[in-house]
Amino acid sequence: MWIFGYGSLVWRPAFAHLERVPGYVRGYTRRFWQGSTDHRGVPGAPGRVVTLLPSAVHEHCWGVAYRIAPEQQARVIAGLDLREQGGYERRQVAVTHAHGTLVDVLVYLATPQNPEWLGEAPLAEIAAQIARSRGPSGSNREYLERLAEALDKLGARDAHVEALAALLPGPER
Ligand code: SIN
Repeated sequence: MWIFGYGSLVWRPAFAHLERVPGYVRGYTRRFWQGSTDHRGVPGAPGRVVTLLPSAVHEHCWGVAYRIAPEQQARVIAGLDLREQGGYERRQVAVTHAHGTLVDVLVYLATPQNPEWLGEAPLAEIAAQIARSRGPSGSNREYLERLAEALDKLGARDAHVEALAALLPGPER
């Protein structure tokens, strides 16, 4: 079994895996459109985390695919179902990597139908919300900065993530 991560799972998988392979999914784009009241915000003051949106087929979203040992699968899925319970559902995608394509890769994504969904907003507003939000897993700023760093390490460009990171106010940038 393989799992694709494109958000916190890129830089903090926190589950046992046998292999970590950078790759991308076609026809999807990453957006900070999902609200977070359990990790990077709180009820009444949600943070913003990423989800995958269907996009033009020539677009793609970089992340990391993890290979899970058969005997770990049930445990890993149970852990991720809990971690991603704030509006994410399991789907399957194909992940293209340097040596081919993996099919039936598990991914957690949030759709506009979930109760935590925030949707589109001007980039400056999204950046301001990220800059002020904090939840049980830490600051929303850390989530954005670590994702931007991890994508940079992969050599993956993401204009949305880069633009938001550049808009963060404060001493770090
Ligand atoms: C993911 O990283 O693949 C899902 C969203 C998140 O946990 O940030």
